[in-house]
Amino acid sequence: MPVTLITGGSSGIGAAAARQLLDLGHSVTVTGRNADRLDSFAASVGRPAELLTIAGDASNPAAVQDTVDATLKTFGQLDNAVANAGFATHDSLDDGDPEGWRSMILTNVLGPALLIRAALPALKVSRGRIVLVGSVAGHVHTPGNIYGATKFAVTGLAENTRQMVTGDGIGVTLVSPGAVETHFSDPVGGLAPGRERISADQLAASIVWALTQPAGVDINTLIVRPIGSPR
Ligand SMILES: NC(=O)c1ccc[n+]([C@@H]2O[C@H](COP(=O)([O-])OP(=O)(O)OC[C@H]3O[C@@H](n4cnc5c(N)ncnc54)[C@H](OP(=O)(O)O)[C@@H]3O)[C@@H](O)[C@H]2O)c1
Repeated sequence: MPVTLITGGSSGIGAAAARQLLDLGHSVTVTGRNADRLDSFAASVGRPAELLTIAGDASNPAAVQDTVDATLKTFGQLDNAVANAGFATHDSLDDGDPEGWRSMILTNVLGPALLIRAALPALKVSRGRIVLVGSVAGHVHTPGNIYGATKFAVTGLAENTRQMVTGDGIGVTLVSPGAVETHFSDPVGGLAPGRERISADQLAASIVWALTQPAGVDINTLIVRPIGSPR
């Protein structure tokens, strides 16, 4: 059965995708910075042998390489890499805190690049797939939105990656969510109350769908909004 690595899989969209893939019989590695949150996720799915949890920062090159190496050591192969870890500072270019931006930019932009780089040799062997979790904010401009700028970078990274690996039999999918009900919107200034959202499970179904396409089929861009989304 396939082996899938998901960064930021201890909650929200990543956790929902991991659950669905475990149900399909995949072996799954999930990462996150907070070890307790990872452990709670493992407990919630019954700590199966097909789950590997690794605490680490998706923006740290050594940690990302270690995660790929540990996945290969534990499961023997890597078929899918899902660059999902990310967050928003929910502030604006004119009055936000640049210190918060550094970590957001490194997680949202450097993180996916590090995962692609580290996973590529194994994905070439498996002729596997890469999924990048972007955002509607990476397709539609919003005034002063620095988070959106990181997701525009993810949109660009997805197509640049696709063009890089066309000769390697690797699929590349950008999944760009609109508003999803997760911890993402917890901070003050997050998604407006009353705004339409889809569930993490509903969004994760698109990731799983992209990962389970027949060999030779490459789904490139999915924008997944709640019905009624204003933008
Ligand atoms: N929810 C939405 O409305 C929405 C909309 C568009 C796009 N997205 C994107 O969807 C992705 C998943 O977010 P979510 O909504 O599922 O939010 P979430 O519930 O907060 O989950 C984020 C996950 O990423 C992990 N994470 C964050 N920074 C990390 C880092 N530097 N290294 C490793 N793990 C990290 C978190 O664990 P730790 O905090 O323990 O590290 C957590 O497991 C993000 O890329 C986000 O930008 C979300």
